[in-house]
Amino acid sequence: MAGHRALVSASILDCDLSNLSSECLRALEGGSDRIHLDVMDGHFVPNITFGPGIIKRLRAIGSQPFDAHLMISEPGRYMDQFIDAGCTSITFHVEVEEPIEPTLLKIRKAGRLAGLAIKPATPLSALDPYRDLLDIVMVMTVEPGFGGQKFMADAATKIDPAHAVFRDRPGETPSAREVHVDGGVNRDSAEYCGSLGVDVMVVGSTLWKKGQDISSEIRLIKQLADQGYRGRRRIAGEVE
Ligand code: DX5
Ligand code: ZN
Repeated sequence: MAGHRALVSASILDCDLSNLSSECLRALEGGSDRIHLDVMDGHFVPNITFGPGIIKRLRAIGSQPFDAHLMISEPGRYMDQFIDAGCTSITFHVEVEEPIEPTLLKIRKAGRLAGLAIKPATPLSALDPYRDLLDIVMVMTVEPGFGGQKFMADAATKIDPAHAVFRDRPGETPSAREVHVDGGVNRDSAEYCGSLGVDVMVVGSTLWKKGQDISSEIRLIKQLADQGYRGRRRIAGEVE
């Protein structure tokens, strides 16, 4: 499934949680480029999932990228544990009420990709103070907390301008510069996300529907995103 512009990171929030490692492998074998791990603390969001202990155990499946998405009130308090768990990237929310910069610095110092997520109502300008510390901007297109919600197209309009947020710090490793979209991404919204130039699509509940063929669904979602991206370039006059 090489050659697609946007990658897929499969969110395991709605998979068969009693078989986490085999579900991760099923998604990766089906063409998911990464695994997206939704960590919730019952405080920042009204739901509770899993923590660094489970992520660390899941690492036994191999070296495929793990994107952690922390929906927790105190990311700083637990960051050492998420780094130790072997996450490839760690993204937390800009809306947390604690200092953000030290936590981003800690992630980068550990050699992992550092990201901030923004809720649908949060403007991109909230990221301004952290521009040179970000590898990932995650645009939420649902209110964080649950899978299976409806895609919010208004919130998705932040995807395109989010690419302008990144800025490298002189003398430091350049940022990875990835814009992720998370929430309600499926065959109905993928083309639109692609047209906005998204780099990574987090895809959750649609993959885990009963009887779903994960691999053909991922292929379709990537193709639709490519189609959207080509349409945007054509409008911009960049292709024939
Ligand atoms: C929601 C999570 C998402 C969720 C996506 O708070 O951050 O990653 O699992 O699931 P779908 O694709 O069903 O919206
Ligand atoms: Zn998520």
